[in-house]
Amino acid sequence: MTNISSPNIWDTSLYQDKHAFVWQYGEELLQLLNPQRGELILDLGCGTGQLTEKIAQTGAEVIGIDSAPAMIEKARQNYPHLRFDVADATNFQIEQTLDAVFSNAVLHWVKEAEKAIACIHQALKPGGRFVAEFGGKGNVQAIAQALTSAIEAIAPSPTLNPWYFPSIAEYATLLEHQGFDVIYAVLFPRPTPLADGDAGMANWIQMFASAFLAELSVDQQIQLIHNVENSLKPTLYQQGNWTADYRRIRIIALKT
Ligand code: BEZ
Repeated sequence: MTNISSPNIWDTSLYQDKHAFVWQYGEELLQLLNPQRGELILDLGCGTGQLTEKIAQTGAEVIGIDSAPAMIEKARQNYPHLRFDVADATNFQIEQTLDAVFSNAVLHWVKEAEKAIACIHQALKPGGRFVAEFGGKGNVQAIAQALTSAIEAIAPSPTLNPWYFPSIAEYATLLEHQGFDVIYAVLFPRPTPLADGDAGMANWIQMFASAFLAELSVDQQIQLIHNVENSLKPTLYQQGNWTADYRRIRIIALKT
């Protein structure tokens, strides 16, 4: 998972142990990718490599890239037989041309979407496919609103929101402008149960919303998380478990 806007430091254990849903849900996207033996496929924002390995198991050749060195280190430890490189979604080049670019749960970190799309387009063969899923318009809206209000109450300052959650129309337009045919696009709610019972929301905030905490003292961070939990409890907490209000966008686009 590439985190462009936040500091490029990921707790890979927290990611692997408590947020395995990131790649578990990604298996549905693999069916849309439909990798074929002998194809060359890029896993853009491969995180700790679980989906890269699944692609390789189909007989396709696969390269995983991620901008976070800690993620790549962990991916190499997990799957030493695969190729993983540190590279940025907005500025990468692959020496061979690709049959497909696959990207799960990454592009919501990439605010410079046009640059990423240009790199993807340049890397693909004509007819090559770009298959992606990420947070779409309205993703984690309740959580983002609770974070913003809680920060206003503790330490009012302009907030750095690290996320990009486009609509289908917005993202498809960017793709078409750069020479893609968008052949499939869907935006759908995907309420996502968080692991670890009561601690689920605090873990999620530390993993995915650290940009909101960056300018706060440790005490303020604890207070902020407590306030966010209190305001979200009536809607996102039930019987000891938290659910995040995800909305995902899925896209398949072909290079023309
Ligand atoms: C995710 O990767 O699941 C995610 C990241 C940031 C906001 C929402 C979801």
